[in-house]
Amino acid sequence: MSIRSLFIPALSLSVLLQPTPAQELKPIALPQPQTVGGRPLMQALRDRKSTREFSREPLSLQTLSNLLWAGFGINRPETGHRTAPSAMNSQEVALYVALAEGLFFYDATAHQLQPVLAKDIRAQTGSQPFVREAPVSIIFVADLARLTKAKPGEREFYAGIDTGFISQNIYLYCASEGLATVVHAVDHAVLGRAMPLRPEQKVILAQAVGHPKR
Ligand SMILES: Cc1cc2nc3c(=O)[nH]c(=O)nc-3n(C[C@H](O)[C@H](O)[C@H](O)COP(=O)(O)O)c2cc1C
Repeated sequence: MSIRSLFIPALSLSVLLQPTPAQELKPIALPQPQTVGGRPLMQALRDRKSTREFSREPLSLQTLSNLLWAGFGINRPETGHRTAPSAMNSQEVALYVALAEGLFFYDATAHQLQPVLAKDIRAQTGSQPFVREAPVSIIFVADLARLTKAKPGEREFYAGIDTGFISQNIYLYCASEGLATVVHAVDHAVLGRAMPLRPEQKVILAQAVGHPKR
């Protein structure tokens, strides 16, 4: 390889750094979640913990399906209610799923991953080393405009609480399946630049998930 070829011209570098349109990503149809099995609840509570070392091995589609459904899937289709409670049933917290292949939005109604951005933004979800290793990062984004029944000054408070329930569901699912996970703070400026968000959307936290490092 010549020395010249090691230098990327400024123009092509800026092209590389542009987010690729989401049209290049296809929706991912998730298999039906498996709602039986796993370790019993008391054992999952016994084993729940934060883990900060991950294997880079991806999660299977079935595990991703189970994980997202456990986190904030629809468990009562007749009413559209979810596995986690939300203030006044506002369901204002969206789960964005950052994978190596790109960023997706978890559509709980269709139980599908909808493409958002054809770019791996896992490294932008936090400053700790595990964000580059875990195959899945779930980014909790609250749409504060959905909390119409709450006073404006209380909306972020409810969004934080509602995120906590979802995060704990994910912790318990991971404990039940022997997966590794940790919820973590985000750099809002960095993630805000990496994700296409509307002004009323606020990133609350992120949660890394994967297999434990062997
Ligand atoms: C709101 C919140 C924010 C957190 N932020 C981080 C974080 O930025 N980085 C991290 O490594 N852990 C983070 N954690 C995980 C805590 O450090 C962890 O839960 C705590 O040390 C207790 O450990 P355990 O979860 O294993 O019981 C956070 C937890 C919560 C609830």
